Amino acid sequence: MCGIVGYTGFREAESILVEGLRRLEYRGYDSAGVVTQTGPTLHIRKKAGRIANLASMLLDTPSPGTIGISHTRWATHGGVTDTNAHPHLGGHDSSIAVVHNGVIDNYMSLKAQLKELGYVFRSETDTEVVAHLIAHHYEGDLVAAIRKVIPLLKGTYGLAVVSKRDPGLIVGARLGSPLVLGIGEGEVFLASDPSALLGYTSRVVYLTDGQLCTLTPESYRIFDRDESPVEINIEEIDWKPEDADKGAFPHYMLKEIYEQPDSLQAAMRGRLDFEAMTAHFGGLNLDPQKLRQVERVILTACGTSYNSGLVGEYLFEEFARLPVEVEYASELRYRNPPVDRNTIVIAITQSGETADTLAAMRESKRMGHPALAICNVVGSTIAREADGGVYLHAGPEIGVASTKAFTSQVAVLTMLAILFGRMRHMSFTAGERVINELKQLPDQVRRALQCHDRVKEVAAKYAHARNMLYLGRQFLYPVALEGALKLKEISYIHAEGYPAAEMKHGPIALVDKETPSVFLMPRGAVFDKVMSNLEEIKARGGPVIAIASENDDDVAHRADDVIYVPDVPECLQPIVVAIPLQLLAYEIALLRGCDVDKPRNLAKSVTVE
Ligand code: AGP
Repeated sequence: MCGIVGYTGFREAESILVEGLRRLEYRGYDSAGVVTQTGPTLHIRKKAGRIANLASMLLDTPSPGTIGISHTRWATHGGVTDTNAHPHLGGHDSSIAVVHNGVIDNYMSLKAQLKELGYVFRSETDTEVVAHLIAHHYEGDLVAAIRKVIPLLKGTYGLAVVSKRDPGLIVGARLGSPLVLGIGEGEVFLASDPSALLGYTSRVVYLTDGQLCTLTPESYRIFDRDESPVEINIEEIDWKPEDADKGAFPHYMLKEIYEQPDSLQAAMRGRLDFEAMTAHFGGLNLDPQKLRQVERVILTACGTSYNSGLVGEYLFEEFARLPVEVEYASELRYRNPPVDRNTIVIAITQSGETADTLAAMRESKRMGHPALAICNVVGSTIAREADGGVYLHAGPEIGVASTKAFTSQVAVLTMLAILFGRMRHMSFTAGERVINELKQLPDQVRRALQCHDRVKEVAAKYAHARNMLYLGRQFLYPVALEGALKLKEISYIHAEGYPAAEMKHGPIALVDKETPSVFLMPRGAVFDKVMSNLEEIKARGGPVIAIASENDDDVAHRADDVIYVPDVPECLQPIVVAIPLQLLAYEIALLRGCDVDKPRNLAKSVTVE
C-alpha cells in the first residue's frame, strides 16, 4: 500500500528517491520521507502530506549522499504526522533506518518487549519496532541482524534498511509486499513497483516471498529463506517513462479514460480468431483438453475488478453455459466453499498485488484448482504465481480510480467466455457475431467519449447531491455497481448500485427530489422492464439521469437528463456504458474540488489485508 524506493550508486540519491516516490504516490500519499547516507551519517527528512511537502523541505535542507531509501505512506498504524512518517530509526544510537510497506500484526507484543529492554519509541507505527529489533540484534553484520529479526515478525513486509555502520549497503526483504530491483551500470535501485524506475533502467529483478537482497553500487545479491544465493533472472519492463506521465491531460484518470479505445485494441490484439470465430490466448498454459473439462468457474477479485467479474458471470453463462461464482477475494480466502475438482479459479486484478486476491488465489491453488490471472501489471506477484493467465496490456494505470483496466478486464472476460463457449455449445455464427462486434469496439468507445460535454452539463446539475442511486439490469447491473463505486471513490458522495427491479424491495425509500437515480438503459431485452422501474422512481419525484441508446426519444421524454451512447450488442454494453459513468464521476468530483487522482483514504494497490 505504501511505496518504497532505494538507490545506491554514483549519483546524488535525493532527487532519484523523490522522483521515484512521485511515480509511486498512487500507492499512498499520507506522508513521505527519505534517509540518505554520507559515511557513518544518516540524513533523515520526513514530512506529513504529499511528496511535494517533502520536496519543498528538501529545498531548504537537502539530504546529501549517493545512497538512500525513501517511502510514501498509506497509514495503517498511527495518525498522519511527521513523526509517524517513514523512515524510522532504530537503536539507542539511531544507527538503523527502516522503510516498510505492509503490516506487522504482532508489533504490540514486540514493542512491549523492546520497551522492557529500554528502547524508546518516538512513533505509533508498527515499523519502528522493526528498526529497534534490527539494532538490538546487530553485531556488526546488517544482513545477519535482519535474518535474526525476520522470524520474529508476523504479518507482511517489503523492507529496505540502511545502517550507519554499513555505508553504501542497502538490505531489502519481502513477504507479502512487492519489491523489485532495478539494475543500472554502477548503480542499483530498489522499489515497490517498476514504475518508480522508469527513465533510470528497464532491467528489473522481481523478489519473491521470503527473499532477501543486498545492494551496493558494485553488486546486488538475492538470497532465499535458507540463505542460499538465488539465480538472478533479469526481466525487461516494456513501459516507457511517458506512459506514466499525464501528457496534456490535467489528471491521470481523464488520460486513462481517453486511452480506452487504445487499451481495448491492445487487449484484443492477436487474440481474435476470424477463421474459427473464437479467441486465443498465448499464456493460459492449459491445453484444450483441460479447458474442455472445466465444469465451473470461480472469479475472484476486489473492488472494480470484482465488478468486472460480475459482468464475466453473465458472459460465461451466456456464451459457455458454465456455472460461475463471483467471490470477494477477502471473503473467499477465509471461507471453505465445497468446490469440485473440475473448477477453475480466475483471479482478476489490475495491479497484481492486491493482498486479498493473492491470498484467495494461493488458497485455491493449495486446494489443487488451476488458478488463472487476468492482470495488467507484468511481473506482478499474482501474475507470476498464477498457473497461467491473460495480460490486459492496458499500460500503467496511475489514477487510483480504475477505469481502462475495468473495460479491458470485461473485454478479456468476453473473449475468454467465447473461447470456453466455442469449445462447448456456442455456434460458429454466434461466435462470428460477437467477434465482429468486438472488432468495432474501440471505435464505438471513441464515439462514446463524445458524450463528455453533455456529461459536464449533467454533472453541473447534480454535483451538490448527497446521495445517488445507480440502476441497471442484467449485464448492466454490475456496471451500476461500478458507476456507484467510481462516484464514491473520487467525489465522496454516498452512492449505491442496484438491480433496477430490486428498488421496490426497500431502497426506493431513499428516493426523494434530492436523490438522483442514474438509469443504465440502452435498448435491449429488458428495456421495457427498466422503463417501468424508471416510472416508479419518477412517481416518487426522484430526478432521473438516463444512459440511453443514441436518439432514443422514449427515454428522452421520461428522464430528466439523458446521456447517449452508441448502440452495441447487450454483451458489450457494459464497456460502452462505463464511459459516461467514469466521466460523470470525474466531472462531479472536479466540481466538488476533490483530488480525482489521489482521493482521500485510498491507494491504488491494496497490499495489506
Ligand atoms: C477501483 O477504482 C479501486 N482502485 C479499487 O477498488 C481496486 O479496484 C481494487 O483495490 C482492486 O485492485 P486490483 O484490480 O489492482 O486488484
